[in-house]
Amino acid sequence: MALEPEREIEPTEAEIAVHWKEEEYYQPPASFIAQANLTDPSMYERFSLENFPECFKAYADLLDWYKYWHTTLDTSHPPFWRWFVGGQLNASHNCVDRHLPRYRNKTAIHFVPEPEDEPIHHMTYQELWMRVNEFAALLRDFAGVQKGDRVTIHMPMVAELPVAMLACARLGAIHSVVFGGFSGKACAERAADCGSKVLVTMDAYWRSGTLLDHKEKADIAVEEARKLGLQIEKVLIWQRYPGRYSSRTPLVEGRDFIVNDLLREYRHRTVEPVRVHAEDPLFLMYTSGSTGKPKGVQHSTGGYLAYVAGTAKYYQDIHPEDVYWCMADIGWITGHSYIVYGPLALGASTVVYEGTPTHPDAGRPWRIAEELGVNIFHTSPTAIRALRKAGPDEPKKYNHHFKHMTTVGEPIEPDVWRWYYQVVGKGEAVIVDTWWQTETGGFLCTTAPALHPMKPGSAGPGVLGIHPVIYDEDGHEIPAGSGRAGYLCIRNPWPGQMQTIWGDPDRYVRTYFAKFCKDPNSRDWRDWPYMAGDGAVQAADGYIRILGRIDDVINVAGHRLGTKEIENAALQVQEVAEAAVVAARDEIKGIMPELYVVLHPGHQPSEELKRRIIDTIAREISPIAKPRNVYVVPDMPKTRSGKIMRRILAAISNGREDVGDVTTLSNPEVVQAIKEIVKSGRA
Ligand code: WT7
Repeated sequence: MALEPEREIEPTEAEIAVHWKEEEYYQPPASFIAQANLTDPSMYERFSLENFPECFKAYADLLDWYKYWHTTLDTSHPPFWRWFVGGQLNASHNCVDRHLPRYRNKTAIHFVPEPEDEPIHHMTYQELWMRVNEFAALLRDFAGVQKGDRVTIHMPMVAELPVAMLACARLGAIHSVVFGGFSGKACAERAADCGSKVLVTMDAYWRSGTLLDHKEKADIAVEEARKLGLQIEKVLIWQRYPGRYSSRTPLVEGRDFIVNDLLREYRHRTVEPVRVHAEDPLFLMYTSGSTGKPKGVQHSTGGYLAYVAGTAKYYQDIHPEDVYWCMADIGWITGHSYIVYGPLALGASTVVYEGTPTHPDAGRPWRIAEELGVNIFHTSPTAIRALRKAGPDEPKKYNHHFKHMTTVGEPIEPDVWRWYYQVVGKGEAVIVDTWWQTETGGFLCTTAPALHPMKPGSAGPGVLGIHPVIYDEDGHEIPAGSGRAGYLCIRNPWPGQMQTIWGDPDRYVRTYFAKFCKDPNSRDWRDWPYMAGDGAVQAADGYIRILGRIDDVINVAGHRLGTKEIENAALQVQEVAEAAVVAARDEIKGIMPELYVVLHPGHQPSEELKRRIIDTIAREISPIAKPRNVYVVPDMPKTRSGKIMRRILAAISNGREDVGDVTTLSNPEVVQAIKEIVKSGRA
């Protein structure tokens, strides 16, 4: 197998020595400790490397198994690890059916529509069970979906989305949820990659006060998928308002079907959950990498579900009586693991909020929390920054009380952390800063909420059974407390780890293992550390501080975008000859893309052209990918071998006078010209 690294990694933040001011510790409140799920420090010994991999039995035992597994971890085909081999289970049974005897009448999902005058729908476990059964029957008997088939779900944040996911899981079908904000074209690429013949969508949804037409994206998706060689046979359309079609687009005869109409035929139909093997895939989640093509991260049923149940229990501190709100989108991994699968596996009540956090004003989240009695709150630094900016004193006006709060997805500035702690959490809540990725299924680094003091800006140590290590460029371990940054890796496999990249196992090996694999012929997992793709530094206390991506990935407001994807979109504009995207620091979104383009000869820069480039990117990918600025430059800074030096552009975008070493450039004079263009563009 090819063991060439996927790309040459330019020295970036991962290698820059960092000198942080050490932040003060904050202690978890006694009231929290008194009720916490994880209070016994010896748990960390039970999950030590000496007890690996058997320690993860504790997580597997949080689930119901039809057939108990015989082998905890099979390492015979590294790095394609298999967890809980021999076991059989069903994820929909574990998230729904098994709770009925005790929690039939308890809310499983609180669906909060964006319009504030629309009632909240409190869907009980009984109702969730019925809806999942009916939709599973429809998928199977009307759409022909069977175990192992892929089903693309392109839906907004509504209760029907988890219903659709769990219905797939009930059949042993593999769902691939595409973030609702993504374009029809982005949806098509993902559907085509995994050969999904069924598309589940919704006619419309509310976002920032507007009822957006969503079904129009399905028409584009089918058309674009056809160009890529995939015939989407059935488009199943939920109605945002049952009984009323809220899209301007016509229904295509024989292809488009209104789910709410079809369901009349499936009322009260039940479907026996299909028993799947622990290693059968539960879902695909496409994420950006360093090439233009998003990769289909494949997660297993048994390992994944056990891992999210365990981490949700110990790190989110979810008890069945909690009201838990993760204000993320189910279209990202955070929503899969910590809106749907983790909380529902534990029998909690989970909130699904349709709209924007600041609609109609920055008090909205706190009103929702107050009304529903939310006691566990989970969001991203970008949302926290936006809420602080729009309503710094808003939380004080509401009588919400959190015991626990999470931040995820990007580094959080200590100052923003303190506002979250003091104003949002009123000094009563414990905070966990959880570091992880689409690929990892669940949390990898965070403090244990009742055991470890919090340190603003640092994620914390590895979680139970996760053993992080930081390597330098040559694979030497960088000791904790040295102040030196390096490549954050995990020494050992874990049950929530992705299984492979759909259709591209070589890329899986190259991307995550090639750089630090100690022996490609070894079957010992110790030789196969997982490379996360983040730069990090570990303090003397073992806490890990994440510095950011070391590859060509930009983390905009916690949404992962590949620079190549944005560049490819910009290149669709015919005047554009070359495009380079870099990450620029942004006050609210943490990081935003900035785009540099070189035009074909004979074309002049204009505002109209810049607008067209931006619109093309929004259309090709999503409005979240829009660059903050587009700079038309005479030439890109290039190495003698013709490689664009994005590092130099990034330095300019971030206002750094010193752009670093330019001696390897074939055209060093262009740097000054670009600097001037950027300066005047800003003025
Ligand atoms: C990348 C993964 C994890 C779910 C949401 C994003 C960054 C994630 C943190 C954190 C600093 C973080 C990393 C990582 N990241 N959590 N607590 N502190 N950075 O999932 O889209 O797969 O992105 O998000 O750069 O590699 P994702």
